[in-house]
Order: sequence, then C-alpha cells, then structure tokens
Amino acid sequence: MKRTKIFADANLVVGSIDRHIFGSFIEHLGRAVYEGIYEPGHPTADENGFRGDVLALIKELNVPIVRYPGGNFLSGYDWRDGIGPREKRPVRLDLAWFSTETNEFGTDEFMKWCKTTEIEPMMAVNMGTGTILDAAHLVEYCNHPGGTTISDMRRANGAEQPYGVRYWCIGNEMDGPWQTGHLTADEYGRKALEAAKLMRWTNGEMDGKAGPNGKLRLIVSGSSNHDMPTFPEWDRKVLEHTYEQIDLLSMHRYYMYSASRKRPLEDFLGSADDMHEFIGTLRATIEYVRAKERSSKRVGISFDEWNIWTVTAPRNEPLWKRAPHLLEDVYTFQDCLVFAGMMNTLLNNCDVVKAACLAQLVNVIAPIMTEKGGRVFRQTSFYPFRAIANNAGGETVRTISDSDLFETMYGGARCINEAVTHNKEKREVCVSVCNYAQEDREVVLELRSFGALRAAEYLEMASNDLFAVNSFDAPETVVPHERELPSVKDDRLTLRLPAMSWSFLKLNY
Ligand code: AHR
Repeated sequence: MKRTKIFADANLVVGSIDRHIFGSFIEHLGRAVYEGIYEPGHPTADENGFRGDVLALIKELNVPIVRYPGGNFLSGYDWRDGIGPREKRPVRLDLAWFSTETNEFGTDEFMKWCKTTEIEPMMAVNMGTGTILDAAHLVEYCNHPGGTTISDMRRANGAEQPYGVRYWCIGNEMDGPWQTGHLTADEYGRKALEAAKLMRWTNGEMDGKAGPNGKLRLIVSGSSNHDMPTFPEWDRKVLEHTYEQIDLLSMHRYYMYSASRKRPLEDFLGSADDMHEFIGTLRATIEYVRAKERSSKRVGISFDEWNIWTVTAPRNEPLWKRAPHLLEDVYTFQDCLVFAGMMNTLLNNCDVVKAACLAQLVNVIAPIMTEKGGRVFRQTSFYPFRAIANNAGGETVRTISDSDLFETMYGGARCINEAVTHNKEKREVCVSVCNYAQEDREVVLELRSFGALRAAEYLEMASNDLFAVNSFDAPETVVPHERELPSVKDDRLTLRLPAMSWSFLKLNY
C-alpha cells in the first residue's frame, strides 16, 4: 500500500481561524426562503412561520453567519418592498430567476429568523438597480436607533432596537453580464466606493473612526469565478478604487462534475487544489494593490459563495412561479469528497479568508432539503460541514506532505488532501483528510509540539458507489461511520484511508 507522510508542528501556524468562514447563504431563489426556512402552516413552524425541523438541522451545522437576500436576486431588489404590513407589500417579477416574489419575507423577518437561530446576519445592498442612497438607507433602517423617518419605520414595524448589522456585501457578482445592472470594473469600483462612504457615515463612522455601533465590515464584489475574462483585472481595479474603505474582497466559485470532460473524475477531484490557486491569485492581487496604495491596511477575502453545483436538468418549472423548484441539486458521495477538500482549502487559507458562505443553506444547491409540508433530509455534503464547523477551531497549522499527484485540467492535484487545526483553548487538534486515490492509502501523521496526543473521535465516509445519494425515503444512505481510534506513539500515528474517502480525526492532549 502506498504511504504518504504528513508532518505538522504546532509552532508553524498558517493563521487564526475566523469562525465566519463557516457561514452560509439564503437567497430569494427557488425554495430557499419559501418552503425552506419559512413555511407558515408546516407542522414544525413557530409563530413566525420558521420551520423548526430546518432550524434543528441548521443548529447541527453550527453556522455562525448567513448572507441575505442574494445573490443575483439582490441586484433587482428594492429592500423597501419587503418591510411593513404584509398585505401592503408589492408582488414583483424577479428578473434574476424568472419567478414571482411576494415579499412576504423581508428584512425584518430575516432579522427575526437570525435572532431565533442565533446566527449573525450578513446583509447585502443592491448595486445593480439600487443607488448608493438606497444602500445607506438600508444601513439606517437596520442600525440607526431612531428619531429619523427611516429608522422609525423599523420601530413601527416592531423592532424597537436597531439590529446592529456588521457585515455588508456591496453588490453581488457585478462583473457578470447576467447581473441586473451589470457594470464595468471602473463603474462598479467608483459606485462601491461612494456606497461604502455613505454606509459608514450612516453608521456614525467619521474619519475612519468607529461609530457608536463599532465599524461595519464591508465586502466589495470580486470576480464571480476565475473563468471570467475580466479576472483578475476586475479585482485589481475594484480594489484600487475602494481599498481604504473596505475590509474584504468577495470571491465566488462553484465546481462541477462533468461527464463530458477528458478526465471527468480527476478534473472534479482537483477542485480543492484549484480553489487554493484561485485564492492565491486574489491574495497576490490584494497585496499588489496594498503596495501600490502604500497602505498598511490588510484586506481579507470573503469567499461568500462556494459549493459544488451540477446543473443536471433543464428548468422545468413555469415562468414566474412563486417558490419554484430551482437548482435542487442532489449531492452524490463523490460530491461530498470534493466538498470536504474545499473545506480543507478554506482552512488552509485562513490567514486571508476571513469569511465564507456555503451557497446555499436550504433546498437551493444546499446541504438541507425539504418537502413542502413534510420531511427534511441531510445531503451527503452536510456531514463534512458539520464535523469541520463544529470542531475545527483556533488556528490552522501548516502541513508538509509528500503526497503524489494526479493529473487534472488545472495541473497536478494531491491524492491526499489534508488540513490540520489546533485549538489551544480546548487542547484539541483536528485532521481532515481526503484520499482522492483509486486505492487504499496509508497516511503517517507526525504531529509535533502539541503535547501528548490521544485520539478522541475518528469519522470516515467511504462508499463503493461514487454516485450514492441521500433522499427523503433513504436519508442515511451516505453517512459518516465511526472508526476505531488509532493510537499515537512518539507524536506519530498511522491511518488507513479507503480509496476515495474522507476522514476526520479529533485528538486532544
Ligand atoms: O447561488 C446561486 C447563484 O450563483 C447566486 O445567485 C449568484 O450570485 C451566483 O451566480
């Protein structure tokens, strides 16, 4: 059996893990909101119509922050449509997803849902059809205590106290011609700069100093993916316009299994390493602009849309339907392996990736699926997310590995893909490791300078069927299994990883 050696030392730290990298995303798209998180009349719904069965699964995932309300939807959305008495809210055409938006659920409902779930909101302002003043007014609606027409509207709508929203995305995928009100990099960069200024001033931030509610964390729209013809020039230009006003550069990336590729499986399994390259380019672009601006400020990355997205069927829902079944991908076991590797990539870049959102959370390319009026199930991808988001904290430790490579359209990718984290407070070390080889592998882990380690939990996901899925009727077809704990001797332990598998080991000292 081939053997891979992985070495990690507690003193070689990549960076501290911001828990916001375990965030997710709810867009007014398909059945994410309606029949997803919100379904009045469902047997588990509370008095606000929030589905209790969905809430329970979200709690299991331990998601700290959720981005809202879009997505492509955002760029045609007037936030005023979603506030005030429900019967007076307008019904609109949603041009992003060719659906009907009833606006039954809006900002105040989302804030209530966040309070119920104890999740931090990451709000987004429309830079497509919206103006910089609309953006500032939404900050005022959410964060100003009262005494102005707009903040008093919030109070009249039932929220006496301001919501104190900290994270704000300035637009969504503004580099994409598919975006309502798409702009060039210079047009968007200028507009985002002015929006950022107004949003900060509205939050009481003067001359770069925190306001009474602290400072906003502003996220500017970066490249939608690295196949965009404007990548990475888009990012450079936008950063050059906005660098001193913003905190994070957004990036998005979905990977897809495509049977029509030359090496369909290998190309797909190379996603995690390619994601690492993508982050590397944007990390370098940020550094370039920082040097050019002679700035001491460090801008980070908000990877606020990432996932597997395999569009398998053409849309068969009628135009303008309310809550149509859209993008309801059912994830295979193989998707879950790639997904776990992508989580490793986020951890391994935690020095620069300071927020990330799994896109999305319920029904739409999501780890949780619901039936109208009925059941829920956990997709295959649910499990690596749950294990990593609940356990991997503190800091990521650099690993040195002699893994062999396999060939992909992106170049060589590692057969053994790992991330090691260290939580000093909890005295825990976590190892997430994918075996992308077609045969079983032995991995020798040398974990130095942590203390006397003992294995505490060892999960494995493996299957003979790469295309196995979970469903409402067979919800536990693909689940992790507990394995016998390995013993640690002289800082070393050996794991036997089945071909095409993901394993998660927790140790303490
Ligand atoms: O998450 C689905 C869509 O993917 C989002 O609306 C958009 O931002 C991206 O293209």
